[in-house]
Amino acid sequence: MQVNTLILGAGAAGLMCAAHSGPGTMVIDHAKAPGEKIRISGGGRCNFTNLHTDPSAFLGRNPHFHKSALARYTQWDFIALVERHGIAWHEKTLGQLFCDDSAKQIIRMLLDEAAGADLWLQSSLVALTHDGTRFTATIDRQGQRHDVTARNLVVATGGKSIPKMGATGLAHDIARQFGHKVTETRPALVPFTFSDGPFRPLSGTACPVRATANGISFEEAALFTHRGLSGPAILQISSYWREGDEIALNLDPDGTMLDSLRTGRARHGRRNMTTALAQHLPARLVDHLAPVLGVSGNLADQSDARLAQIVGTLSDWRLKPTATEGYRTAEVTLGGVETDGLSSKTMISHTVPGLYFIGEAVDVTGWLGGYNFQWAWSSGWAAGTAI
Ligand code: FDA
Repeated sequence: MQVNTLILGAGAAGLMCAAHSGPGTMVIDHAKAPGEKIRISGGGRCNFTNLHTDPSAFLGRNPHFHKSALARYTQWDFIALVERHGIAWHEKTLGQLFCDDSAKQIIRMLLDEAAGADLWLQSSLVALTHDGTRFTATIDRQGQRHDVTARNLVVATGGKSIPKMGATGLAHDIARQFGHKVTETRPALVPFTFSDGPFRPLSGTACPVRATANGISFEEAALFTHRGLSGPAILQISSYWREGDEIALNLDPDGTMLDSLRTGRARHGRRNMTTALAQHLPARLVDHLAPVLGVSGNLADQSDARLAQIVGTLSDWRLKPTATEGYRTAEVTLGGVETDGLSSKTMISHTVPGLYFIGEAVDVTGWLGGYNFQWAWSSGWAAGTAI
């Protein structure tokens, strides 16, 4: 069987590419259904892009690589597509756009856009060769072997996050097979674990924080879990954290706690210190921190210096995570196919004619908040329109 373009992976990037790669496109995926990560994303409503998409919201060895594709197919282009398909959406917070109804609408939209492509599900790549002009892929489709030759091969099989959902390192293996380098990969947008389970009694407690790792800070919620720490602020800094690093939590992110405690002391001096702190922080967290802070007595018992010391400690709570929850729960994979070997305009290999890498497989990783899907759309579009 001969096709013009064979796309490996019917996820976000692969389907977007198939929508633009023209006649003679075949897409294969080993899953039973296309776009499974889209389906479960954003709590079933898919945070499909971010209004504030900007190159600074992406990590990768080359901080410039992703600029071209993101500038040529922008968040506004994707919003226009969503609107053309009559999908209602809303901004939740921080520019994050979600479907009003269901993530399945995004999958339906992509399948409609890619209707011209032949989609083979429950199909795996068994072998892959290239003769200088054409790729030959041996594909196992539900137990039957097929040899498919293609002028273009687009690798869109994503990263290693959530193997239970079918994530594999296939893209990285194919990159290495064809002489491309793969940067160090690690789980990102992932909760932290602490070996001694210090936050078990706080499990389920959330509060706004400014979380910092390696000089990078995010101001959002943190969530204490049975195993450690999660929540958007924590997931964001996990992309910047390395084993052995400390993180810092500022529990007074808007910096109003000291003034408020001073005012409280003037008005309600007999208020217990833990009660006063519980007006700013969840009561369970105050109970947990009280012995560390050594708080006792009433507000009236505290000097200005003592209040400042307490707030100072709460503003710079140092913690040393043991590890992360790993690929089991990581939203994305940091690192991937090294971008030096790819064209930033089209995603094509500099060395192998007709070979493209797109989406999460590539060493471009976005922040939490719709940025990773935007990269999938932009890179998929860049490759698809270049074919
Ligand atoms: P994607 O993973 O989407 O697709 C890869 C496809 O390749 C899959 O269909 C897979 O089955 C297939 N495949 C893999 N290995 C294969 C093999 N060996 N043979 C055949 N097929 C193979 N991002 C965001 O911007 N907003 C959000 O709301 C969320 N939410 C979210 C929630 C959860 C729980 C996760 C795990 C992730 C997110 N993300 C997200 C991240 C987002 O899902 C991710 O960045 C994109 O799906 C990446 O798109 P790709 O097409 O590159 O890979």
